[in-house]
Amino acid sequence: MSEKRPETLERITNEALATKFIDEQVKEIRAQVGDKKVLLALSGGVDSSVVAALLIKAIGKQLVCVHVNHGLLRKGEPEQVIEVFKNQMDANLIYVDAVDRFLDKLAGISDPEKKRKIIGAEFINVFAEEAAKLEGIQFLAQGTIYPDILESDGVKAHHNVGGLPEELNFELVEPVKFLYKDEVRVVGKVLGLPDNMVYRQPFPGPGLGVRCVGAITRDRLEAVRESDAILREEFAKNGLEGKVWQYFTVVPPFTSTGIKDGKRTDDWMVIIRAVNSVDATSATVEEIPYSLLNHIVKRITAEVKGVNRVLYDLSPKPVATIEFE
Ligand code: XMP
Repeated sequence: MSEKRPETLERITNEALATKFIDEQVKEIRAQVGDKKVLLALSGGVDSSVVAALLIKAIGKQLVCVHVNHGLLRKGEPEQVIEVFKNQMDANLIYVDAVDRFLDKLAGISDPEKKRKIIGAEFINVFAEEAAKLEGIQFLAQGTIYPDILESDGVKAHHNVGGLPEELNFELVEPVKFLYKDEVRVVGKVLGLPDNMVYRQPFPGPGLGVRCVGAITRDRLEAVRESDAILREEFAKNGLEGKVWQYFTVVPPFTSTGIKDGKRTDDWMVIIRAVNSVDATSATVEEIPYSLLNHIVKRITAEVKGVNRVLYDLSPKPVATIEFE
């Protein structure tokens, strides 16, 4: 499948152009959908969030959003999806707590590709089950963007968890499929989505699952989530939020010796990764001020349970990749 961006579609670089695009899409969506219902897997990422906001504007409660919490989201993410879409935009939102289901399936699995496959397959299972409970759905909305079409033949980012089963047999609604990421962000901003949703850093489909290296355990996953939250908070406070392309923490599956209250400990370590990149094919390491790093180390070791050591990864891509697995 190859679809080309229409030549008449001007590059959306400002609010006025975004408003024009939104008005046109609202009309098109209404014409396509009529009074039928549309289903959307809403992860809280930029693309699906912008599609949700567009559809809410166009068809309100005819849109049914399903947010699957697979337990691998960052701290505060499911809460933000509920706050923005259910509380503020009054969307028809189904929240699925599938945490135990995912973590049970992932228990003992250390191969990175197997982990990704399980997360992807389980996501589709959960979503299909939710879809089966609903009646009268004819359309499936997707946050496909133009690079997805260019790079992977129309399939939403090939290693994304968001790919949905064709056998669901829905007609697709893909209102941002000819937009580049920066354009999607401008549209999202005009639709009233919060900055931290619209300008958020890249986040892998399998989420924190690839940062809890090896076989995922609940205690290490919690250490990844809590240390990531501290890193993000400190980067935001210190003006690095919009400046660094991608930053996160990783917890490897082995312990090291530490010392606490005069006693030796055997605890996890947190690795900080902060890189700059244009398109993720190569990356350089951000120079974080030593005083800030020091402060983050103190906070992580004091506040995150079961951690006695923090490291900073100085490896560029290549030779390392951005994620650890
Ligand atoms: P690597 O680790 O290959 O990462 O240098 C390059 C970019 O891709 C993201 N990434 C993923 N994104 N599903 C995704 O949707 C994945 O399985 C996945 N693995 C890596 C990574 O965060 C970085 O931005």
